[in-house]
Amino acid sequence: MKFYLLGYPVGHSVSPPMHNAAFKELGMPHDYSSLGVEPSRLAYTIKAKIKVDEFGGASVTIPHKIEMLRLVDELDGSAERAGAVNTLQWKDGVLTGYNTDATGGVKALIESYGDISQAKTILLGAGGAANALAAQLAPRVKELTILNRTVEKARALAERIGTNSGSIIYDQALIESADIIVNATPVGMHPNVGASPIDKRHLHEGQMVFDIVYNPLKTQIMLDVEEAGGRSLGGLWMLVYQGVEAFEIWTGVRPSAQTMYDAAKKALLERH
Ligand code: ATR
Repeated sequence: MKFYLLGYPVGHSVSPPMHNAAFKELGMPHDYSSLGVEPSRLAYTIKAKIKVDEFGGASVTIPHKIEMLRLVDELDGSAERAGAVNTLQWKDGVLTGYNTDATGGVKALIESYGDISQAKTILLGAGGAANALAAQLAPRVKELTILNRTVEKARALAERIGTNSGSIIYDQALIESADIIVNATPVGMHPNVGASPIDKRHLHEGQMVFDIVYNPLKTQIMLDVEEAGGRSLGGLWMLVYQGVEAFEIWTGVRPSAQTMYDAAKKALLERH
């Protein structure tokens, strides 16, 4: 069966090698490839290439994640909650939209950190990625605090997800009492390597930083927390776990996250 990454432009994405490595390891005769689709041709492409027998499923990326909400036949609750579709499944003549971005991110965090139910967590950022992650994190951690450069946006996000979240002015000293710090801002992303959203003197042993940025593989804030004796988890794991969850939706089989990570990392390093 055929699987696609639907985006525009799709460029050198790491998703094809990542999924193909898992198909190969499991002996599945499927093929995953990039499919660049201009926004104006998205509806036509769904008819011509997606709703066909040989299609198995797709990942959806920029700029189609929101438009896809109204092009699918059914929406899974995950896509409804996230307000965006990142995964398509074609089964029994029904096209269903899911969202595994934030659920995958939280899965990656739990795999690495362990039980997060007692963790005081700080989320940096209040954009699209932060919104999706906040909704998944809030019910699972002890306390979620949202810090954002624009305080109003942090407050609006905290109000939207309710109860055990809070929004406070961008007071970096709050970082000191956090067990987990999630960076959902682009600060530190290539080419601004060396930039960090947090002054390193607030980081210490016992903390974990989860950065959604995956280029570079280790951002400045990750290096800083490690130097302080803490642990870090890079955004490539989030990308991998959204893929693990999608793969399981498509095939019913849970692939090896490590196999997918190794293939994604290799592709990312070859790109530069
Ligand atoms: P995405 O959809 O990928 O999350 P976004 O909606 O543009 O992207 O959100 C980016 C987030 O990173 C925002 O919370 C933004 O802060 P503002 O709400 O104040 O714009 C935050 N951000 C971006 N650049 C930043 C910087 N240099 N310092 C601190 N925060 C930054």
